[in-house]
Amino acid sequence: MKWLSDVSLTPHHTFGLPARAQAIVEAHCVQDLQAIWQAPDYHASPKLVVGEGSNLLFCQDFEGVVVLNRLMGITVDNHADHYLLHVGAGESWHAFVAWSIDHGMPGLENLALIPGCVGAAPIQNIGAYGVEFYERCAYVDIYHPGTGNQRRLSSDECQFGYRDSIFKTPVMQGWVITQVGFRLNKAWKPVLKYGALAELDSQQVTPRAIFDAVCAIRRAKLPDPSVCGNAGSFFKNPVIESEQAATLKATYPEIPLYPASLGKNKIAAGWLIEQCGLKGKRQGGARVHPQQALVITNAENATSDDVLRLAKQVVSHVYTRFGVALEHEVRLIDQQGETTLEAQ
Ligand code: FAD
Ligand code: EPU
Repeated sequence: MKWLSDVSLTPHHTFGLPARAQAIVEAHCVQDLQAIWQAPDYHASPKLVVGEGSNLLFCQDFEGVVVLNRLMGITVDNHADHYLLHVGAGESWHAFVAWSIDHGMPGLENLALIPGCVGAAPIQNIGAYGVEFYERCAYVDIYHPGTGNQRRLSSDECQFGYRDSIFKTPVMQGWVITQVGFRLNKAWKPVLKYGALAELDSQQVTPRAIFDAVCAIRRAKLPDPSVCGNAGSFFKNPVIESEQAATLKATYPEIPLYPASLGKNKIAAGWLIEQCGLKGKRQGGARVHPQQALVITNAENATSDDVLRLAKQVVSHVYTRFGVALEHEVRLIDQQGETTLEAQ
């Protein structure tokens, strides 16, 4: 294993902000993970497992070891009515989705072009264009390098919700996702409920056509991190009680509201931010994306302080105008590990 010390994290997260780590190392197998956790020089240092860093904001230099998860491999069991795919956590998500379509195993086409690694997909239950990860998840394999324990969690045990799962809770502290199982049914049905996809003909459409359409919509709407640093939606779409939704709807009839579980409603945070006149707003080098207000970008040599200040301004404006509290989706990391916008 190759250890690098005092390294720049700029190339290891899609915001591309300046930050450093005490050390960085790649793990290619479970034995590597165990060796990293036992390394005498870094025994007491905090560890942060990273895929492609596409949902991360390093608020300060990280005083610990960044472990790049590069556990690879894809195998397939061919069952009578479904394929069961076993996929290493370090595989690129989009490359895996493209591979599954190329090999005649559809079901993930709506989730094309989401950045990141397969192992991070369960953590916030990635979702886009009418499909969420949990709908195709068979199991998630986890490993605890501190104790050597391994477990396979069923999809139900993962407690998936909107941008949420058990992996965001304290019980999963110290566990690393090593492999993900996907169940893709052979009786494929297109999912065309998202706005622009509804124009496709459900009788004629192919998985490839949906894959291509999703890639085209995403390329038109979202900034490409290789051109302009960002981490996708900075905030989650807030889920509010039906009474508050009804009050907002009465004042703002055009407000985009969607049904959520337990009779609640989800509001489009991008709309709330745009209504506050914040599209294109700058703070230092950070900017609210002019085409998609839910995304904060590293427009011009931003620092993490610029991004944090801008994010706080957005939260404050939206709360003052609508009484709705935005929560950040992006995972914030300080010197020791995870933190929150409120704590910064
Ligand atoms: P990282 O950012 O590296 O890590 C995210 C978190 O997971 C961190 O807390 C990290 O410590 C932890 N982690 C990562 N891997 C492991 C592991 N193997 N074991 C344990 N913990 C781990 N998300 C959506 O849901 N839908 C979208 O449509 C979407 N669009 C996006 C568009 C753009 C342009 C960008 C930049 C991001 C978008 N995202 C979207 C967010 C992001 O792509 C996903 O959250 C993705 O799953 C993150 O993967 P990653 O490998 O980059 O994770
Ligand atoms: N909207 C505005 N102004 C904006 C942005 C959006 O008015 O600046 C309105 C749109 O007009 C639309 C509604 O908000 O009526 C929803 O917008 P969009 O379809 O673009 O989706 P989103 O809610 O902004 C969510 C996810 C994305 C995912 C898309 C597509 C969250 C936090 N974000 O965005 O995921 O790709 O839907 O399914 O749920 C991510 O999580 O990083 C991410 C990019």
